Amino acid sequence: MGNNNIRNYYDQLAERIESAEGTRNKAPDSSEFDAAYMREFAKPEGSLLELGAGTGLLLNRIMDGYRRVVAVELYPQFSRFITRANHVEVVTADLLTYDTEETFDVVALFGVMNFFSEGEATDLYRRVARWLKPGGKLVVKNQMGVAEDVMVDGISQELGTHYYSEYRTPGHEARLIEKGGLQVVRQDDIYPDRLNRWPNTRFIALLATRPT
Ligand SMILES: C[S@@+](CC[C@H](N)C(=O)[O-])C[C@H]1O[C@@H](n2cnc3c(N)ncnc32)[C@H](O)[C@@H]1O
Repeated sequence: MGNNNIRNYYDQLAERIESAEGTRNKAPDSSEFDAAYMREFAKPEGSLLELGAGTGLLLNRIMDGYRRVVAVELYPQFSRFITRANHVEVVTADLLTYDTEETFDVVALFGVMNFFSEGEATDLYRRVARWLKPGGKLVVKNQMGVAEDVMVDGISQELGTHYYSEYRTPGHEARLIEKGGLQVVRQDDIYPDRLNRWPNTRFIALLATRPT
């Protein structure tokens, strides 16, 4: 298990992607709900780091709420759809090894952490804690297990290709974030039922802060 198991899936998607919505594959675009949730944390004088920014489905809707934005994405074939602006820097890098000296007011991980094993996630959260200013906020949103962790590692009937995801429960994910040195302060169920298409998972947002 681990991030390497999703590479083949994204390599293939990167080869044929033609629009920003292409990363959604068969799932409907739910970024309006992501953006509505993230707007609460916008800071006109502040900075945002989005990790695994994809084609900018979320970022393009919220980038104007910040003075500086850094978007990290592994595939330039995806990040070319991120709106270019003077205050926006797009970095092509692997989150397994990415590092920076810069610190941010807000870090966003949307639809990303399910592609990382427990060990990889803990390591990333430790680095995220360093990239946050004291009092800064981390928002993690992805499908999470309802009653227990849900592991997917095999041929997806819907997508017709190999797919890997670890949908940990919100409590499990929160423990990994806290291992990284952050404090989880809120858990929000941010999508309507029609966008939660699987009975054993729900899209949950976890809000954590770096203690001052
Ligand atoms: C479901 S998309 C979410 C995109 C964006 N956060 C949004 O909500 O619109 C997941 C993204 O994570 C990226 N990703 C997965 N593993 C990564 C890694 N190791 N390093 C950088 N990006 C990665 C994928 O390439 C993909 O663009």
